[in-house]
Order: sequence, then structure tokens, then C-alpha cells
Amino acid sequence: MRTTQVTDGVFRLSANVDNILFEGMWPIPNGIAMNSYVVKGEKAAIIDGVCTWEGVPEELFEQLDQMKVKLEDIDYVIINHMEPDHSGWLEPFSALRGDENFEILCTQRAVPLLESFYGITKNIRPVKSGDTLDLGDGRVLAFEEIPNVHWPETMATYDTKSKTLFPCDAFGSFGAVSDDAPYDDQLDEGQIDFFEREASRYFADIVAAFSMPTKKAIDKVESLPVDIIAPGHGIVWRKNPQKIVDDYKRYASYSKGPAKPEVTVIWGSMYGNTEQGVQPVVEGLESEGVKVHVHEVPETDAGFVLQSVWESSGVVLGMPTYEYKMFPAMAAVVDEIGKKKAFNRKAFSFGSYGWSGGAQKELQEIVERNKMKWDFLEPLEFMGKPTEDEKELLKQRGKELAVKVKEWCNA
Ligand SMILES: Cc1cc2nc3c(=O)[nH]c(=O)nc-3n(C[C@H](O)[C@H](O)[C@H](O)COP(=O)(O)O)c2cc1C
Ligand SMILES: [Fe+2]
Ligand SMILES: [Fe+2]
Repeated sequence: MRTTQVTDGVFRLSANVDNILFEGMWPIPNGIAMNSYVVKGEKAAIIDGVCTWEGVPEELFEQLDQMKVKLEDIDYVIINHMEPDHSGWLEPFSALRGDENFEILCTQRAVPLLESFYGITKNIRPVKSGDTLDLGDGRVLAFEEIPNVHWPETMATYDTKSKTLFPCDAFGSFGAVSDDAPYDDQLDEGQIDFFEREASRYFADIVAAFSMPTKKAIDKVESLPVDIIAPGHGIVWRKNPQKIVDDYKRYASYSKGPAKPEVTVIWGSMYGNTEQGVQPVVEGLESEGVKVHVHEVPETDAGFVLQSVWESSGVVLGMPTYEYKMFPAMAAVVDEIGKKKAFNRKAFSFGSYGWSGGAQKELQEIVERNKMKWDFLEPLEFMGKPTEDEKELLKQRGKELAVKVKEWCNA
């Protein structure tokens, strides 16, 4: 972990984390960067904190030397967001400081969380949209509440001098970041593409359910002259901050759809009968030239399935009946997709049963409960393995779905 300078008077501190499930459930095979920033005027402020799952890296405090900032010189601690990946360092910071000569700035909604998470009740200055903090030397920080990106208490901080936005979870991504090249201007096209893929999965897994608040936050951001975007996770955007803003706008719009003219096929099967229906549907879809992504569950983790569904305008669900209900791994993933608010998809479902069926009924319940408003073709449930006629029908449905997806995307 090494400090780097974002711009004059603004420094980045970061630690990469891997070998964990993010938020206790999302795989991060490429890791994630936890970013913190120090902003210096005559006074110094630290924005968010670096906190890994093992706790606060000792070096965080040693790195302050590189910025010529002493721990005791930090006058303000700015908590944009109370989720422990950003606020978890508050206790060690307070302990190492050993004094209370610093103020914590956060929104009013963060105040009760400060007490319940860390027992902190003193030296708190609640701020609201439009409030500012003068650090001296011409450096004024402005605050903007961006509720529900990602928790209700979240705000963004903006340095009016360098026109740097610190939006915390917004505009963030998965993916470990090298201390040698944490800025978009140091990365080649392939590396930027990597972070786009990681941002897309981060959005689907972490931010998707808050797509509407994210849109509102983006509108606020776009009213500011922003030269640099310095998020709580991922790379810092100095050359082309508009790129990550546009990507986030696109991801947020996928909630209502249409997304890309692509189809995600998710299937699970106990003994291979439902599985025999997958290939015919894929053939039908591909005969219309749409790109198809196929995921078997539970083999593929929901974190990856979500990214795929988020980016697709069409979804196919293949699931057998299990104890009068839907194959549990499929039920879990479809429910999660609903909770993440992937609305309005063009969809088709099929699956095998032995005597009663029931998968289809549970699917309807999940779709209604989550108000998903998916537009389904007539489902196909078959007994045991699919007959040749049923396979032909599955292919036909795939083709029909592809046509509907293309129409929606071209409308
Ligand atoms: C544990 C288990 C529970 C099942 N429960 C039902 C059921 O409640 N109703 C039904 O119609 N079939 C039920 N079946 C039968 C399967 O749905 C049927 O064998 C189907 O062809 C399995 O498809 P698959 O090979 O894609 O898993 C059950 C099968 C298993 C193994
Ligand atoms: Fe968060
Ligand atoms: Fe976060």
C-alpha cells in the first residue's frame, strides 16, 4: 500500500482485499480496492477510511507521513457512508490519535449509526446538501446528500478547488488496483475494459437495487463541474470521468430496460432432463443472431448471474420441479434478481417434472412478489425428458424470444 497524489493537495490511500466474499456473499475473484483520500488546505481532512476484513491496515497510518500529514494534524474526518468497509477504521483511528481534537462530518442520518456501530457521540458535525467546510488555502469542501447510494445516510463530498468528487460507493468497481497505476490516465484500453467489467458486476451486485437513487445522484453530479472522480472502490478517473458517469447511467437504465440486445439463459437440473431443453432454446435464440449467455446454477454464483441478467434484455429460465416447487437454486437466484429490480425483461421458462409440476407456479409467485413485470412467452413444462416435438417447440420459443428482444431494443 502506497500513497499517491491524485492532484495538488489531494492524496489517495488504498488497500486491496481478496479472499473474502464481499458483503459476506459476493465472490470477488479479482479483489477490490478500498480507497481513502486526504485533502489538504491549511487544515487536513480524511475522507472515508481504508478498512479491510482483517481490520485496518497498520500502514494506513504510516502512509500519512508520505503526505506530510501527521495523524494528529487531521482536523476533520468525513464519513460519506457508514457501511463498515468505509467507516470501520474510525475506532482504531480514534485509539491511535488518543485525543478528541478532530471533528466527524456526516449526514444527520449517520449520527445514530455512529453511536450504534462505534459508540461515538461526540465531536460530530452533521451536514446537509449545500453545506461547506473551509480547509483554508482556498480549499472548500462541499457536501451533497445522495441518499440510498448505497445506504440512506450516504453523501458525496466535492472539493471545489480541484473539482474532485468523492462519491464513495457511486462510480465504484470491483477489481484490485495497482498502486503503480491507480488512475485512468495510466491505464491502457484493455485495463479500462477490465474495470468496466468489474464496475458492471459491482453495480449489479451492490448498487442495482438503488438504480433510481443512483440516477438522481448522477443528475446532481452532472450539475457540478467535475474534473476528477475519486470513488471509494476502484480506479480514480482523472482523464475521462465522464466515462464512468456514462457507464453508471447506462447500468441504472438497465433496471427498467431495455438493456443490451442479449439473452441470459439460467438453468438448473438434478438428473439432466431440464438440461436437455437448454441447447434447443439456445439454438433458437442464436438463429436470430442475438448474443446468449448460459449459466448453470448453483454452479455459477448468483453474483455473476446477476451481472449477466442486468445487462440482458431477455432471460430464459430452465428449472425442474422439486418437492412441488421450483428447483431451490433457481428459485433463490430468480428471487435475488427480483430484489435487485431487474424489471420488464422479455422472458421464457421451461422445465421438467415427474408427476405434479409446481416449478412454474412458484415462478409466478416470485415474479409477482417482486413486482418484476416480466413479459413471458407461454411456458413449456414437460414430463421427464423432452420429446423431439418439445425440443422443436423450445427452439421455436427461443427464436420468438430473440425477436421480441430485438424489437424492444430497437424500439
Ligand atoms: C428431490 C426431488 C423432488 C421432486 N419433487 C417433485 C414434485 O414435487 N413434483 C413433480 O412433479 N416432480 C418432482 N420430482 C421429479 C422431477 O421434477 C423430475 O424427475 C424431473 O424430470 C427432473 O428434472 P431434471 O432432471 O432436470 O432435474 C422430484 C424429483 C426429485 C429428485
Ligand atoms: Fe456501501
Ligand atoms: Fe463500499
